[in-house]
Amino acid sequence: MALDKMEDLSLNPVVSRAKLMEMEGVAVTQPIYSSYDKVRKFKARPDDLLIATYAKAGTTWTQEIVDMIQQNGDVEKCRRDTTYRRHPFLEWNIQEPPSLRYSGLELADAMPSPRTIKTHLPVQLVPPSFWEQNCKVIYVARNAKDNLVSYYHFHKMNKGLPDPGTWEEFVEKFMTGKVVWGSWYDHVKGWWKAKDKHRILYLFYEDMKENPKQEIKKIVKFLEKDMNEELINKILYNTSFEIMKENPMANYTKEFQGVMDHSISPFMRKGVVGDWKNYFTVAQNEKFDEDYKKKMADTSLVFRTEL
Ligand code: A3P
Repeated sequence: MALDKMEDLSLNPVVSRAKLMEMEGVAVTQPIYSSYDKVRKFKARPDDLLIATYAKAGTTWTQEIVDMIQQNGDVEKCRRDTTYRRHPFLEWNIQEPPSLRYSGLELADAMPSPRTIKTHLPVQLVPPSFWEQNCKVIYVARNAKDNLVSYYHFHKMNKGLPDPGTWEEFVEKFMTGKVVWGSWYDHVKGWWKAKDKHRILYLFYEDMKENPKQEIKKIVKFLEKDMNEELINKILYNTSFEIMKENPMANYTKEFQGVMDHSISPFMRKGVVGDWKNYFTVAQNEKFDEDYKKKMADTSLVFRTEL
């Protein structure tokens, strides 16, 4: 995110939309590109937990569930800070303007263990130390069409991301992987393959919507915690879309002020499965499905686009 015009507007900084760079075949923003050498050398600790997703797959939701589990359901503790600062965003860094300065690496390095770290990196770009230390990873995947719709709206409201162009243009960009963090198809497939070699809990947004309690229990088990039904219900309630939408520590209204414009589209937008039907034309849908079949022919991974 580069500063376009220097303006002394600490709460309303003027930022220019990011330009896309290519890094090992993956589209990323300039700051990710220039700091990647440091990111690659990041020293993971054995008790780090990594939450990995393609952008807009349900990262924040999963982060809240994980934090609620780690804090034993203590709502106040979970509100100690924003999602963005509770869990360092590994590859994310902003130098300018000062009001937005952020370094996921610095935040992580300064954080006492056990840490929970967020990343949108495709599996092949994850710092090797996570694998060397045999860290646990929770990966969340969301069906391509809803993921695309959510990402389109996020581009519109987040002025730090590249201009999405028209809806038609954005669909094309998504299909060709010319969006930040690259191809959705490669991302979900890469992580799916990796789960056979590493300690990865691979979850689906659609399962979380259909049966959140069951998915929360999976995470509890993965984190080797023991929780009674009452505590699980408390976590279920506090991580529901309705509650998180109103939670300033989770809904991104306290971060990126002047960059994210929630009046264009709130961060907590709809939180449903199947919203793509409101955006794809019949022709677009056919073209998308045909291309999807080709791109996903080499994987056993199956998504649901409706419940
Ligand atoms: P929509 O834009 O479809 O509403 P991420 O955190 O990876 O950026 O993902 C954001 C998406 O997850 C948004 O999707 C957001 O509304 C949805 N989301 C966030 N919290 C949620 C929750 N508790 N339940 C369901 N969806 C949630």
